[in-house]
Amino acid sequence: MAKKPWGGRFKESTHELVERFTESVSFDKRLYRWDIKGSMAHARMLAKQGIISKDDAERIVEGLSVIKEKIDKGEFHWDQKLEDVHMNIEAELSRLIGEPGKRLHTARSRNDQVATDIRLYLKDEINSLDKALASLQGAILYQAKEYMGYAMPGFTHLQHAQPVLWSHHMMAYFEQFRRDRERLRDTLKRVDVCPLGSAALAGTDFPIDREYVREELGFSGLTRNSMDAVSDRDFVAEFIFCASLIMIHLSRLSEELILWSSEEFSFVELPDSFCTGSSIMPQKKNPDCPELIRGKTGRVIGDLVAILTLIKGLPMAYNRDLQEDKEPLFDACDTVRSCVEVMEGVLRGMVPKKERLNQALKSGYLTATDLADYLVEKGVPFRTAHEVVGRVVAYCIENNKELWDLDLDELRSFSSVIEEDCFERLSIDGSIKKRNSYGGTSPDQVLKAIEEAERWLAEF
Ligand code: ARG
Repeated sequence: MAKKPWGGRFKESTHELVERFTESVSFDKRLYRWDIKGSMAHARMLAKQGIISKDDAERIVEGLSVIKEKIDKGEFHWDQKLEDVHMNIEAELSRLIGEPGKRLHTARSRNDQVATDIRLYLKDEINSLDKALASLQGAILYQAKEYMGYAMPGFTHLQHAQPVLWSHHMMAYFEQFRRDRERLRDTLKRVDVCPLGSAALAGTDFPIDREYVREELGFSGLTRNSMDAVSDRDFVAEFIFCASLIMIHLSRLSEELILWSSEEFSFVELPDSFCTGSSIMPQKKNPDCPELIRGKTGRVIGDLVAILTLIKGLPMAYNRDLQEDKEPLFDACDTVRSCVEVMEGVLRGMVPKKERLNQALKSGYLTATDLADYLVEKGVPFRTAHEVVGRVVAYCIENNKELWDLDLDELRSFSSVIEEDCFERLSIDGSIKKRNSYGGTSPDQVLKAIEEAERWLAEF
C-alpha cells in the first residue's frame, strides 16, 4: 500500500471511501508537464541557494525527466491513494532516486505548487486559444473577401430592416472575436505571475530566491502576498468568463447559421463535411456543429457559475474546496478551443446563396428608411418624412406592391417633393452605397474595415 506523504500524525489508515472522495489525480494528472517543470526550477533554486546540494538537485532533475518520459509514453502508474498529481510524482521520484527525492519539497507546499501548475497550464492554454481565434478570424475575413459583392437583408427583431453587404455582416463577428482576444491578452497579465515560494500560506524561513524561479519558469512577475497567492483563483474565474463570452459569440453565430441553412431562409449552404445526416430521414442534412456549439455554450457558462460559487465563501488562505477549480477550468478550456476550431471549419466551407439572398432582398420594404432620408434631403423634417413613408408602406401593403413598383405619380401623391431621382435611392445597391458613415455598410467602408482588420490580424 502506498504510504501517505503526510501520514506521520495519523493512527488509522484512510477510509477507502475517503480516498476515492478526496482524490484529484484522475483529472489533475493532466498538469504533470507543468508540475515537473515547476519542480525542476524549484530544485535548481534550492541548490543555487545552498539549501540542498548541487548533486541532489541534479539527481532530482534527472529523476523528474525520467518520470516525465514515462508519463509521456503512458507508462506511468497513477495511484489514487496518493491523492493528486503532485504526490504521485514526488513519491515516484523518491522511489526512483531515494533520499534526494525526499528533499524536493523543502520550502514548498502543494498549495503554492498547484497554484503554479494551474497558472503555467493556463498560460499555454490561452496562447493556443488565441491562435485558434486568430485562425477563426482568418476564416471570417475569407468569407468577407470572397463574397464581397453579395447583399442581404439586415435584420432587427429578426424582421427585414435595411440592406447590408454580406461582408459587413461577417465583419461584425470579426469585431466580437477581436474584443475576445484583447480580453484574453489582458487576463493573461494576471495569470502570468509566479506564486511559488509562498509555501503553505505564510512564506518560508529558507533563504529562497523567488526571482530566480520566476525567471526559470518564464513568468512576468511575482505574486505579492503569500496568503493571497495560495488562495487566489480570480484568474481562473476571469479566464472562464472570457471563455464564456467567446462561447456566447460563437453561439450567436451558430444560431444564425442554423437559421440561414433552414429551408425557410436558405441563405447558405454549409459544407457537407461539417454536417451530419438522419438515421431515419434520408433527405436530411443537419447543422449539428453549430447546434452543438450553441449547446456547449451552456456548459461553459455553467463552469463560470461553478468557479464563482466555489470561491465566494472561502476564508483565507488555502481550502480544499479549491481542488474543485480544475474540472470547470479544464472543461472550459477544452470546450471553447474545440468549438473555435470547428467553427473555423464551418466558415471556411460555407457558401452564401446569392440568388436566394437577392430574392430575400425583394421583400420587406428594406429601403423605406432611404425614402425617408431622401425626403429629408428635399427639406422635409425627419419625423414628417417618417410619417409620409409609413403611409407609402401601408399603401404598398394594401396593394401588394414593393416600394420600387410605385410610379412617380403614385409616389408624388404622398409628397410633392419626390422626383425621378428617388428611384436610385429605392434600389438595394443605391441604399448600400449611401450608408457611407464610418463603420457603415457601404462598399467603401467595408473594404476599409477589411483592410484594417487584416493589418490588425497580422500585428496583434
Ligand atoms: N489537489 C490539491 C488541489 O488541487 C492540491 C493542494 C492540496 N493541498 C492540501 N493542503 N491538501 O487543490
